[in-house]
Amino acid sequence: MKLWENFIIFKILPGALFFFSLIAYWPAIADQQPAKTDVWDIARGGQLYDKWYGVLGRKAPDQTHPSYTAEGKGKGSSTWRCKECHGWDYRGAAGAYAKGSHYSGIKGLRDMVGKDPDEIHKILMSDSHRYTDEMIPHDEMVKLAKFVSLGQVDMDLYVDRATNKARGDASRGASAYQTICAVCHGFDGKAINFHDEKEPEFIGTIAKKNPWEFIHKSRFGQPGVPMISLITLPIQDIADILAYSQTLPDK
Ligand code: HEC
Ligand code: HEC
Repeated sequence: MKLWENFIIFKILPGALFFFSLIAYWPAIADQQPAKTDVWDIARGGQLYDKWYGVLGRKAPDQTHPSYTAEGKGKGSSTWRCKECHGWDYRGAAGAYAKGSHYSGIKGLRDMVGKDPDEIHKILMSDSHRYTDEMIPHDEMVKLAKFVSLGQVDMDLYVDRATNKARGDASRGASAYQTICAVCHGFDGKAINFHDEKEPEFIGTIAKKNPWEFIHKSRFGQPGVPMISLITLPIQDIADILAYSQTLPDK
């Protein structure tokens, strides 16, 4: 074999083959995102339930939702949040939103547990909801339906409705709180203020005032900010964290 033949076969050819295969497979190489699990979809659905426009970085309509109850005190974009009509405890008018400033008057979602997500998706696209594709795109709606079917918990098992007290073990919760939540929220829960200087709201405030919101946010994370989701932990662990958080300062 001549020297120049050798050069082409062993040097130029492999290089060229590598170069062209790189071009051919580049889209696959560049887009190597691991597949998302069903559990991730459900957690995402839970965040959308909380505040879809926060999660998706969209604007909610300024007008009050047409299905929002006439006796309700809310108005504007917040009336487009699922939780505003169906509640943090998923019981709507039969739960914590039976009275008070978030009075709902609308049925809850507990009957939908375990139902076919395709059927739930149809309800979400119905006239009573009026979400357009520009508000919540199809693939995100599918995740909401998965959350409704597979992601709800029976809050009454973990919160005593008469007293707002967690049905949990505060001493177990202390270890979990200090190792999972304190890095962001502080050991006293006061590192992040959710409200304003005049009427601050801390972990301890939400835990006492709205234990259902606390459980929902601990399971799914806070929309639009980097907060972890504890959906893979047993719910009793979250009830324990709630029990401990109820001992933290609330102002
Ligand atoms: C402005 C109030 C309002 C908002 C916001 C709202 N809903 Fe509804 N929802 C209703 C009303 C009213 C019904 C009952 C009427 C009906 O069955 O068509 C209903 C029914 C449902 C049902 C069926 C419950 C059952 O047992 O029949 C599901 C599931 C549901 N909503 C999910 C959601 C989800 C998820 C969101 C957020 C993307 C949402 N809803 C936002 C008012 C609202
Ligand atoms: C990586 C940081 C981080 C971790 C870890 C974290 N959070 Fe958060 N959390 C945040 C941020 C940021 C906010 C949003 C604050 C805001 O919107 O003003 C938030 C908001 C919340 C809220 C909502 C308050 C409200 O009214 O809007 C609750 C409740 C909450 N966190 C509970 C927890 C609990 C319980 C844990 C531990 C299981 C935890 N968080 C762990 C960063 C974190």
